Amino acid sequence: MDNNQGVLIHGAGWVSTQHIQAFQNNPHTEIVAISSRTLESAQSRAAEFDLDVPCYDDYEKALAHPGVDIVSVCTPQHLHPENTIAAAKAGKHIVIEKPAAMTLEDARAMHDAVKEAGIKTIVSFVLRWNPLFRTLKSMIAEGDLGRVYSVEADYLSYAGDWWAGFGLGRQREYGGSAALVAGCHAIDALRWFAAPGEEEAAKPVEVFAYAGGLRGQSTSQYNPLSNDWHEGDPLEYPGLELILIRFSNGVLGKVSVNFECIQPYAFPLRIFGDKGSVRDNKLWSRTIPGQNDWQEIPGITPDSSDVSHHPFQGQMDHFVDCILNDRESHCNLEDALRTHEVVYAAQRCYETGQPVKLPLL
Ligand SMILES: NC(=O)c1ccc[n+]([C@@H]2O[C@H](COP(=O)([O-])OP(=O)(O)OC[C@H]3O[C@@H](n4cnc5c(N)ncnc54)[C@H](OP(=O)(O)O)[C@@H]3O)[C@@H](O)[C@H]2O)c1
Repeated sequence: MDNNQGVLIHGAGWVSTQHIQAFQNNPHTEIVAISSRTLESAQSRAAEFDLDVPCYDDYEKALAHPGVDIVSVCTPQHLHPENTIAAAKAGKHIVIEKPAAMTLEDARAMHDAVKEAGIKTIVSFVLRWNPLFRTLKSMIAEGDLGRVYSVEADYLSYAGDWWAGFGLGRQREYGGSAALVAGCHAIDALRWFAAPGEEEAAKPVEVFAYAGGLRGQSTSQYNPLSNDWHEGDPLEYPGLELILIRFSNGVLGKVSVNFECIQPYAFPLRIFGDKGSVRDNKLWSRTIPGQNDWQEIPGITPDSSDVSHHPFQGQMDHFVDCILNDRESHCNLEDALRTHEVVYAAQRCYETGQPVKLPLL
């Protein structure tokens, strides 16, 4: 097919399994190579998905592989900036796993490289394609909640070594903070629901935040999957962040990122408009005649941290459509960096105790 897009998967770990499946299912893409730190990982991932493609342990060589149009950056987060800049310089379209950039400086460098290359990008704020998110976004666009004035989302987890990314993610240098390494999904959810347009995320203009929690440097760790405790490496940053956001359209937002929750993973949502409210997958709206109880919205909620539960198919299909039709994604690097800026602003608040005006970039 003329418009077939060749894909290089870079970083053959956990999340790459979902990128591979999504690109295998898309009728316009074909995986043409896999690269990773080790050849063994790349080869075993290829074998797992029945892919008879060349494997590399050298990213530059993989980028030069004939027929690569799209690079999926699935490496650990501290490598996303250099991997993205190299792919942009090679003229490839790029899927960037979150978090995209660890610092404001990295964000600027990535932004400049992508602009200069004129390529398409998407950052994996994959929940924008979650079925409940899609339903709620359509309802907001249709006016079922009236004018939205307040949005809340929480990322509630116990970060520990049950999570494969904990080894790097718990460290300041490689994970950054609870909000950066994982809670950015909840910040992005606020931006998504605070904007009325079907393909629009709101612009944050001011942030205030506190960091706290009780976990400190404790080496006693909870495992929410087995509901027991064991010894393990500590977090190098606070386990709790509470972030308030004001958006340019006047909507106010509140996020709690909690890495010390003694409970199973949860992602609660609350949206308030002048015609109705949403509480997770429950709706109360003046548009429903005679309503006397919350209406449950059927479908898949965001209450799982398992990548196989995440709607990567929707994300990749959307991205391929953007490439083929030469249009920008609502979740391109430029947009996604606004979500990251909230994290950097919160970090600034912890140092200064003062609200931070955005944009920072
Ligand atoms: N959007 C989402 O919802 C979502 C969900 C899960 C993860 N993620 C993000 O995806 C990224 C990867 O997470 P993961 O859970 O897949 O991690 P992972 O299982 O540890 O996989 C990372 C892979 O990157 C490879 N790698 C490490 N250092 C490398 C290097 N210097 N050069 C090339 N490859 C290198 C490793 O390769 P080897 O095996 O060859 O050593 C490993 O297979 C993280 O940033 C994470 O935050 C996002």
